[in-house]
Amino acid sequence: MISNKLRIGPYELSSPFVLAPMAGVTDAPFRRICRSFGAGMTTSEMTTADTSLWQTPKSRHRLDLDLDAEPVAVQIAGSEPEQLALAARACVDRGAQIIDINMGCPAKKVCRKAAGSALLRDEKLVAEILDAVVAAVDVPVTLKYRTGWDREHRNAVRIGKIAEDAGVQALAIHGRTRADRYNGEAEYDTIARVKERVEIPVIANGDITTPEKSLEVLRLTNCDGVMIGRGAQGRPWIFRELAAALDGTAENTQLEKSELRDIMLGHLDELHRFYGETTGVRVARKHLTWYCQNLENADEYRHRVVRVDSASEQIRLTEQYFLGIDQSGKEKNK
Ligand SMILES: Cc1cc2nc3c(=O)[nH]c(=O)nc-3n(C[C@H](O)[C@H](O)[C@H](O)COP(=O)(O)O)c2cc1C
Repeated sequence: MISNKLRIGPYELSSPFVLAPMAGVTDAPFRRICRSFGAGMTTSEMTTADTSLWQTPKSRHRLDLDLDAEPVAVQIAGSEPEQLALAARACVDRGAQIIDINMGCPAKKVCRKAAGSALLRDEKLVAEILDAVVAAVDVPVTLKYRTGWDREHRNAVRIGKIAEDAGVQALAIHGRTRADRYNGEAEYDTIARVKERVEIPVIANGDITTPEKSLEVLRLTNCDGVMIGRGAQGRPWIFRELAAALDGTAENTQLEKSELRDIMLGHLDELHRFYGETTGVRVARKHLTWYCQNLENADEYRHRVVRVDSASEQIRLTEQYFLGIDQSGKEKNK
């Protein structure tokens, strides 16, 4: 029997399906949409623990927290325990209710500074970081990490135990090693072994893109929740499908075309407002490209909408697509 309860510290989440933090994707507008479809929790994009960089427009947007979406989870990345502790405290001052620490990012920029998944090589430092952050804040601290440094060094169980001993209140594990980057298939055996060995909630992550797969992974790993990343890109309603599958009501989740239109137009409007027109239009392009993967007869629309430079044109072309009118005024895609 799959449990649908996921509790992190004092927070009982409304759903065991949560959105993965994705830099450049899971900004406040996208998180709001995923929440509206029932994501149990969303986490901010990774933010540097170096607070001296928080005045850049990028960090300001990343730290723009949607405070009405409880629990407000913020992810930080760094490698110095004291710096991470200070950053965690600063996030709590801004309204964070959960501090998530990133030890999963394989990006060179992060790894060169021995942050992200590079930290998995240094278990002593992992313990120091987690001890420092847990001591610094009185909100739950969670850890997101990979199964190990490389396939010969899968230390996810040891890291999980270190985290639990430090007082971390939940783990999210991406079923790949750092060396795997995003290649190959995510494996869930290691995640299952961590789940067996710790008492705190464990959330499984990696390549989970359908309700069927999410239920299969919950069964395989016995995890408390599932984290969805790329599967939610251009498909935020996946959280409604996941919840329905868990309840056994999957047949009621069909998305009407008008609903899809409203999601896309609402998303565009939010992005344009959140970032301002220039950046908003640029950020919107990738989301529109992902949405187009779910649209019929969308080649011409996609080709045009990712090339225009104004918010009004992005909106006009999207409205026109849903009216079924091509550029020459002819009706199509009814
Ligand atoms: C574009 C992109 C950005 C990401 N940014 C972050 C991040 O900021 N923090 C983090 O912990 N993981 C990040 N990840 C990793 C995801 O959270 C997740 O672990 C990974 O994509 C595997 O899950 P999926 O197969 O469901 O996408 C990112 C992944 C992608 C594709």
